[in-house]
Formats: sequence, structure tokens, C-alpha cells
Amino acid sequence: MPRLAILERLRTNLPLIAPSMLKCDFGNLHREVELLEQAGAELLHWDVMDGRFVPNLSYGAMVIDKVRPLTEMVFDVHLMIEEPERYIDEYIAAGCESITIHIEATRQADAVLRRIREADCVTGLAFNPETPVAEVRDLLPWCDQVLVMSVKPGFGGQKFMPETLDKVRELQSLTDSQTIVAIDGGIGPSTIGPAAVAGAGLFVVGSAIFDQPDYSQAVSDLRAAAIGAESTGTRTSR
Ligand code: DX5
Ligand code: ZN
Repeated sequence: MPRLAILERLRTNLPLIAPSMLKCDFGNLHREVELLEQAGAELLHWDVMDGRFVPNLSYGAMVIDKVRPLTEMVFDVHLMIEEPERYIDEYIAAGCESITIHIEATRQADAVLRRIREADCVTGLAFNPETPVAEVRDLLPWCDQVLVMSVKPGFGGQKFMPETLDKVRELQSLTDSQTIVAIDGGIGPSTIGPAAVAGAGLFVVGSAIFDQPDYSQAVSDLRAAAIGAESTGTRTSR
């Protein structure tokens, strides 16, 4: 599906819950994908780690490529790898419709984002908890999605860092309504509300889905919590 159609699909389904596949049961990957589709997840968040940019290894394009034909869900890849420019084409070829790189991982973020857009994919830029919004500001016109890391990247199951919500608020005010502000790390029933009120529209969730017995219940409860918080919170609508 072309970039604009994907964006339209994502925007009409806000707030979005994106299961982080880092936390899935890899021994039953096909079944996990089916359960997440049944749970109504609009997209899957694939965490790719290289053991250099983050102190952990996960999986790469060849795994994603094999899962691609099994589902209609949007594939949103989060590349926690050094020099993503060296690998980007593999993820495009594997059928990822949305590709997020880290600002800290490359000196060529603008060129990489341009390459992703040329391939008609959704562009995303992620930044670590210690990286200020000022570092990504000039690149915002190239971003369809901005991903605020609310934990230090590398592992699932970490504690949410509430101070990162200031960055969500800042990005919400700097971007137009076409940009999706996303948050990743430690999102669960008690943190999704404040993140939604701060202005996030896409929530990456690992443990709070995969540690639950019923994924459908978990996804719908999280979505309801985000919607509930947004409607009662002080967020400026846009
Ligand atoms: C962390 C990853 C996250 C992580 C989320 O580096 O980017 O997507 O798996 O997992 P939880 O929700 O458990 O923090
Ligand atoms: Zn992630």
C-alpha cells in the first residue's frame, strides 16, 4: 500500500496500539500474529536491534519478510541499529510500510528519511530519552511519525520515564495534525493516559499485552484508557 494510503489508514484509527514484537512468543510467531490481528491491532511494531546501537540483538529483515504474507496489519519497523543507511533497502524489500530510524544512529538522517519516502513508505524518527527535541527539529518536515523513547532502548519490560512526556508535549506543539506522535517503552494501563493527554497518538506496547492472557482484552482496555484520558484530559484538540 502506498505511503499516503497507509497514513490515512493509521490516522483514521487513532489512538493506535502497536504491539511490540520484541515481547512475543517467537516459538509461536504465526499464532501470535493471528491473535494480534484478532485483537484489532492496526499495526505491528518490529524492534530490530544490532547489539551495537543497543546492548541486545533481536531479529532482522529475513524474519519480517517471512511474516509479511501472513497478515494485513501495517508493518512498522523500529531500527535500533547503527548506520541504518546500510540496511534500509532490506526492510523496504521485506514489506515494511513504515520505517523508523534513530537520530543518534546516523549522520545522514535526512538522506535516510528521504530514501524511505522515495520508496513510498511512512517515515519515522526516534530519539532516546536523553536526546532533546531540538536535535530533531530541523528534520520534522521529513517525518510522518516521531517516536519518543520513554525508556532507554534495548529491552522490553522497563519502567516508564515520566519526564519524557515533556518531549511529547513539545512535539505536539511543533508538528501539524498530519504527524503521528508515538511513544515507546513502559506503556501500560497506568501510563497510557498521561501519554495520551500529553499528545501521543500511537502507543507501542510490549509487556502490557504479551504478559496478559487475553490480547484482545489488553488491546481494547489500553485503547479505551487512551480515549478516556484524552476526552477528560487537558489536551488541546487538533
Ligand atoms: C525497547 C523497544 C520497545 C519495547 C517495549 O527498546 O523499543 O518497543 O519492546 O516493551 P515494553 O512495553 O515492555 O516497555
Ligand atoms: Zn520499539
